Amino acid sequence: MGTNNRVFGFWAFSSIAAVEGLTKISGNNLVSLSEQQLVDCTSGCKPGRITEAFDYIIKHNGISPDSEYPYQAKPGQCHNARPAIMIKRYEMVPSNNESALLDAVSRHPISVDIDAKMDSFRYYKEGVLDSRDCGTEVNHAVALVGYGVTDDGIKYWLAKNSWGENWDEKGYIRLRRMVDNWPEGTCGLAQYAYYPVV
Ligand SMILES: *[C@@H]1O[C@H](CO)[C@@H](O)[C@H](O)[C@H]1NC(C)=O
Repeated sequence: MGTNNRVFGFWAFSSIAAVEGLTKISGNNLVSLSEQQLVDCTSGCKPGRITEAFDYIIKHNGISPDSEYPYQAKPGQCHNARPAIMIKRYEMVPSNNESALLDAVSRHPISVDIDAKMDSFRYYKEGVLDSRDCGTEVNHAVALVGYGVTDDGIKYWLAKNSWGENWDEKGYIRLRRMVDNWPEGTCGLAQYAYYPVV
């Protein structure tokens, strides 16, 4: 999973990527935000904690930059640090509706829970993942940052993952979009989708 192994904080990464991306779109300077703070100060390394991460940022009046609260590669003691970025609230995208998800992703990055347990996802190298073997029991989170269509006409989502740059495509994965008879989306990505509002 690469040298830059950030597996322990993967759910935090998804929320952070959404906040960082939204902050950039809103015209603020792009700063790298602290995943470590979310891991230390919320319930730890469990999946499906996107909303918990956003709740923490709202209640805590912000999230600190990495420079103030650096990454440690393991859970640590929660401590105070100067917050950099505030969010007001978060919204959920309607479930199992990739049209609604497309509309949302065209406006800002979206944190989604996903089923990443299958080898096709874990050892993904390149191309558009079009795997029917992964299920819809979410256990991981990524940030949807874009979408597109290949030269062959295959629609895909572009997702930022947290497993480092050796897990390719440079830390991103393309996942098949609009699969017939699969409203939950490839590996369940359309079930639980959230975005922060600044
Ligand atoms: C899915 O979302 C689109 C766009 O927001 C909406 O027009 C449509 O009615 C929704 N479909 C269902 C089945 O809810």
